[in-house]
Amino acid sequence: MTDDSFQRTDDRFRNLSSVRRAPAPAPDAPFGFDSPFDRTGTASSKWSRATAPGVIPMGLADMDLPGPPAIARALQRRARHRAYGYTACDPAGRTLVADWYRARHGAEVDPDWVLLLPCGPRTTLRVLLEIVRAEAPRPQAPVLFPTPEWGGFAQLCRAARIDFRELPLPVGPEGYRLPDGPLPRPTAAVLLSSPHNPSARVWPAEGLRALAERAAEAGALLVSDEVHGDLTHPGRPHPVAVTTVDPAHRRSTVSLNSVGKTFNCSGIPSSFALVPDPGLRTRFADALAGYGLWEGGLLEQTVQQAALREGGPWLDALLAHLAAARARLTDRLGAAVRSAPQASYLLWVDAAALGLPPGTARRALLERSGLEATDGAEFGPGGRGSLRLNYALPGSTLATALERLARLDLP
Ligand SMILES: Cc1ncc(COP(=O)(O)O)c(C=O)c1O
Repeated sequence: MTDDSFQRTDDRFRNLSSVRRAPAPAPDAPFGFDSPFDRTGTASSKWSRATAPGVIPMGLADMDLPGPPAIARALQRRARHRAYGYTACDPAGRTLVADWYRARHGAEVDPDWVLLLPCGPRTTLRVLLEIVRAEAPRPQAPVLFPTPEWGGFAQLCRAARIDFRELPLPVGPEGYRLPDGPLPRPTAAVLLSSPHNPSARVWPAEGLRALAERAAEAGALLVSDEVHGDLTHPGRPHPVAVTTVDPAHRRSTVSLNSVGKTFNCSGIPSSFALVPDPGLRTRFADALAGYGLWEGGLLEQTVQQAALREGGPWLDALLAHLAAARARLTDRLGAAVRSAPQASYLLWVDAAALGLPPGTARRALLERSGLEATDGAEFGPGGRGSLRLNYALPGSTLATALERLARLDLP
């Protein structure tokens, strides 16, 4: 297939610079997940990677699906009052977070554990790593995380000048498993995306408990980055680390989350951290305040409260849409899928099984099919030879992506 043919057939995917009104959702789809979603004129980072007309970006982890109407309403309501000054933290936000965990995950989160932050998860992690470095049992104690793993951990460790080691994830018949050997002593922290980015695997509760125990033995803080945790597919419970680990290890465990990922609003950065250890919570809040990141924030609170209070029906519809899209893609790609996906909208595939040269698979996929993916090498040494595909697409765009994938040399 040539560039030209996908440019002509899929001209409607061009990321134009004019602003067009989003089309009204079809009457049978209350949240509009099946209608084309035109992000033209919104300066979408994801679409800026579509380097030629007709390219469908399937790399960056946000969704080409309209966000919750409840967030739009809350922002409009708040914007009407022209008081845009410094904003205090509303403590009701902590109870909302606790209620959310009880309702969605059956997890009893103490509202006192919650830090409500006006910055994205990446910034929150970066500040946490500074505390980890300052409090490490020995200056050379490394931070550990698996590979393949979200590339942000390695970037953030480099930025914080903290040594890190990557632990290869064992692979079983179902896909990846958590590393099960003893951890080096001392270790400063163990970082983990849970569910796993890139493979969308939901780590089992017993595996998390065992890892927390080994982390505690090694003197390490277990940091469970759960920004994909609200996106587990129907029938897949999400084990929230702070309420899953043995109570003896709770104080050396932190869970992170953000409505940005869950409700597709990462352009308004926010996150929340569940920190059961009161001393660590205070030190964490102080370190964040050192960067002017105080709890609360005008837009962050508006969005977070609207999402947690009223976003449930939107999220349920989204999860049904994602699970159906996952089934269509995994049927099409078969054995090329490296690990059975159970959450989010990410698919981790073996480039060679798609007939793509492992070293240059991203470019080859782009050139042959006009599909832009994330290069597996971004996920550490364990990611070489893989691609990550984001399938959070409207039904019609997904159909086009599937047609293009079918033209590859599938086994
Ligand atoms: C596991 C994980 N953690 C953190 C982030 C970072 O989120 P942000 O860049 O919005 O802070 C991402 C983004 O994809 C992620 O997948």
